[in-house]
Amino acid sequence: MIKDLQQEILKLKKERDICILAHSYMSEDICEIADFTGDSYALSLKAKSAPQKTVIMCGVRFMAETVKMLSPQKRVFLANPDAGCPMAEQMDREVIAEVKKMYPGYALVAYINTTAELKTISDVCVTSSSAVKICRAIPQKNILFIPDINLGTYVKEQVPEKNFKLLSGGCPTHAKIDVEDALAAKAAHPGALFLVHPECRPEVTKLADYIGSTSGIMEFAEKSEAKEFIIGTENAIVQHLQFKCPQKKFYALSKDLVCHNMKATTLPDVYACMLGNGGEEIVMDEATRAAAVKCIEKMIEYGG
Ligand code: 13P
Ligand code: SF4
Repeated sequence: MIKDLQQEILKLKKERDICILAHSYMSEDICEIADFTGDSYALSLKAKSAPQKTVIMCGVRFMAETVKMLSPQKRVFLANPDAGCPMAEQMDREVIAEVKKMYPGYALVAYINTTAELKTISDVCVTSSSAVKICRAIPQKNILFIPDINLGTYVKEQVPEKNFKLLSGGCPTHAKIDVEDALAAKAAHPGALFLVHPECRPEVTKLADYIGSTSGIMEFAEKSEAKEFIIGTENAIVQHLQFKCPQKKFYALSKDLVCHNMKATTLPDVYACMLGNGGEEIVMDEATRAAAVKCIEKMIEYGG
């Protein structure tokens, strides 16, 4: 049963001094056994401060790589090796290095959903909860923002004093939601507030009552006086919020708002990883790590 496996994982975690980090898109059973659950930015901070010598990341590959970059002395595992992020694979280092040459003097600002190789040539990383603050704070006026054009468009609007060049990548899960989906959800739930992740298209975010990261959306819904909410991000958040706030109602913007990569990790995967029978240890050559971590450290410096 789920609760027996959870008990076994909790016991093993203590015995073997393992820290389990779970992105908020993980299922409820995994979040319950995690030491920490949060959005990409919060996970990066936790990765730096966790005292344990071993970390298991329940999320996608770039998140486990970020932990390894920040804590090279730790053993870091991705609970399910198949969990990648399609957006992170969209742009490679060689192509972006050429694009960078076309925009001399621009800061290369990379969403954290990128590969370690691409991070080696990026000036600073951002996450959805920190992008506006960081783009405002960096000294450069000109910004080459990769890879998410939807997040980039949102940040550009919030930071009009800077000059942005956007490239057209993005999250296939969020980008497939169109304005008709948003209007249909609003028509079905006329009394609900509409909370949307900035990875969604601008036509969709324009209709939102609140735009923010996964943690931002959860915090907004928990604190709000309102009673009904349409959730415009991965549907795990609908379930978590329904557990946290049973007196409120949460509706999925679309039943298609499912990231199959985030859904790849299961509770038995976490258990197998702890026993050494599954998962993948993140191995990174020191030259790549040392070059890539700089833009993560800059993110933490400017992001606070
Ligand atoms: P946040 O964790 O910044 O909300 O981003 C969501 C996401 O899609 C992570 O892959
Ligand atoms: Fe990548 Fe989108 Fe899945 Fe996040 S939700 S891991 S950005 S594909």
